[in-house]
Amino acid sequence: MIPASVIEDIKYRNSIEDVISSYVNLTRSGANLKGLCPFHSEKTPSFTVYTGDGHFYCFGCGAGGDAISFIMRIENLDYRGALEFLARRCGITLPEDDGGREKGGVSRNRVLEMNLCAAKFFRNVLFSPEGQAGQEYFAKRQLSGATIKHFGLGYAPNSYDALKKHLHSQGFTDEEMVAGYLCQRSKKNEKNTYDCFRNRVMFPIIDTAGNIVAFGGRVLDDSKPKYLNSSDTPAFRKSRHLFALNYAKNHTEDGFILCEGYMDVIALHAAGFENAVATLGTAITADHARIMKKYTDKVIISYDSDEAGQKAADKALRLLGEAGIEARVLTIPGAKDPDEYIKSYGREKFAEVLRGSLSGFEHKIHKVLAKYDLNDFSNADIKARAARELCYAIADTESKVERDIYCQRIASVLNVDISSIKSEVTGILRREAAKRKKERHTQVVRITSGSGDRVDPDFVKAPGNVRLEGAVIGMLLLHKEYIAFSKDKSILSPEMFTSELNRRLYEKITGTPDFDFGMLSEDFTQDEVSRAAKMMSDRKGLSNSKEVFTDCAGKLREMTEKLKEKQDGADLRDIIERRRKEATNNRK
Ligand code: GTP
Ligand code: MN
Repeated sequence: MIPASVIEDIKYRNSIEDVISSYVNLTRSGANLKGLCPFHSEKTPSFTVYTGDGHFYCFGCGAGGDAISFIMRIENLDYRGALEFLARRCGITLPEDDGGREKGGVSRNRVLEMNLCAAKFFRNVLFSPEGQAGQEYFAKRQLSGATIKHFGLGYAPNSYDALKKHLHSQGFTDEEMVAGYLCQRSKKNEKNTYDCFRNRVMFPIIDTAGNIVAFGGRVLDDSKPKYLNSSDTPAFRKSRHLFALNYAKNHTEDGFILCEGYMDVIALHAAGFENAVATLGTAITADHARIMKKYTDKVIISYDSDEAGQKAADKALRLLGEAGIEARVLTIPGAKDPDEYIKSYGREKFAEVLRGSLSGFEHKIHKVLAKYDLNDFSNADIKARAARELCYAIADTESKVERDIYCQRIASVLNVDISSIKSEVTGILRREAAKRKKERHTQVVRITSGSGDRVDPDFVKAPGNVRLEGAVIGMLLLHKEYIAFSKDKSILSPEMFTSELNRRLYEKITGTPDFDFGMLSEDFTQDEVSRAAKMMSDRKGLSNSKEVFTDCAGKLREMTEKLKEKQDGADLRDIIERRRKEATNNRK
């Protein structure tokens, strides 16, 4: 646990306005600040910063919180990491990490120290006689000594305890090695551990601060699994790291090149394309897209040419687009992946391929046309089917100007009249708009009835109660001076909250000495913290005087009691009904 006084100090020295404006352009709007939300893609600002009470809330996507949860989200850090980040920003040192420990009591810092030690070990082995197999493998893949050093590559010897022994000698424990995914516990005997990475070439994964957060290891032959990647550890989340981002982030003039594999990235960097990155043995996530968006608005997807790679490219196009990135796709002719392409055709040719990358729309057209044989277009039926598919793709494009250009292009590709393409597109747009309107309507119904609320599934049970609970919590968060007196059981008590989330919030707020909003991030999810921020935001511009607060609390008590009576009544009716049935049965 980090003392409340330290959190207060950190928040005092990092005003919310100051912190957020390093990421978002904020402009004044009445008493508050507004800007384009960094957590979803939008064109009109719905991201609001309430400087007075140090919180933010986005009316578009519902993200909200304080300076601490903002940094957690945008820098992809955990609670402790965000506090360290903000502390560094204002020159405070956090007290030693003990309460902030995760997974088996091993801290992030300890795992990072251990990883550095392990990376040095793997590198030393690679350059020793024992590492000959690894050296030969890299030679076969045409990696120069300079590239191997640049990426800190290494070799894990073919041994069950070489790394373990080395790390022991450096003062690391079995428990730490297991938590850091360098060793595994034996299934037969839990007490025994052994090295996870054996007889593999090793790729350290380095974050933008230069920490070695994890490893990937590749076999030297065709055995399976081809790659072994660290699972999540106290220092690593797969869904939030990109390989080579530590270098690529400094070379984003042409955006990023997003690849599938480590070897693709390494080959591209070696050929001078230092803006290449890859996800780590997982499909791209929204987190990855958001991280990339921090550095550039342009990404060229350069996945494998096989079907799986192309499918993955579609998903990447969508996720990157949603993050507000202009994504393009590469098709690599005559090679399985970028690595192979560069080896066969050289860097100049690859630069050419890059220049020929396709926009999301062109990529779609490409795919549709590839499905049909252009010669078949003498067949009217097939032509009509292709036209319809292409019109759907056009309708998917947001800008009218672009749509018009595409209509023209499709008309000429299919050799049909542009007016028929245009009217087909208009028809699709009209139908989609009607569908969306209906969807919006169901959304409104769901929201007002509270069903389908993922963050607070209890809302639907008693919407009136839960709304009032939210108002009470919002006031507690805005006016900390109400906290002390609301601990009084005659004012409020945990049983009065029908929503589990609200009860937990109430207990945390009233049960934590020197409570601060930032402390919610310690044991509530980001969505739950956002919901708490919404409760505050909903109270803005309304009266939150102590009288209003006590009236709300009183009303809540009344409502809870009624609800309970109703519940008891239902139970009673249940019992009477059962008795009657029993009696009838007995008579029979
Ligand atoms: P090379 O065959 O060495 O050229 O590998 P590559 O980098 O071209 O990788 P490939 O296209 O086969 O796979 C892409 C990425 O998926 C790899 O870099 C790994 O991160 C991941 N991957 C591949 N195989 C496995 C596997 O067996 N297990 C896991 N967890 N990840 C894998
Ligand atoms: Mn490959």
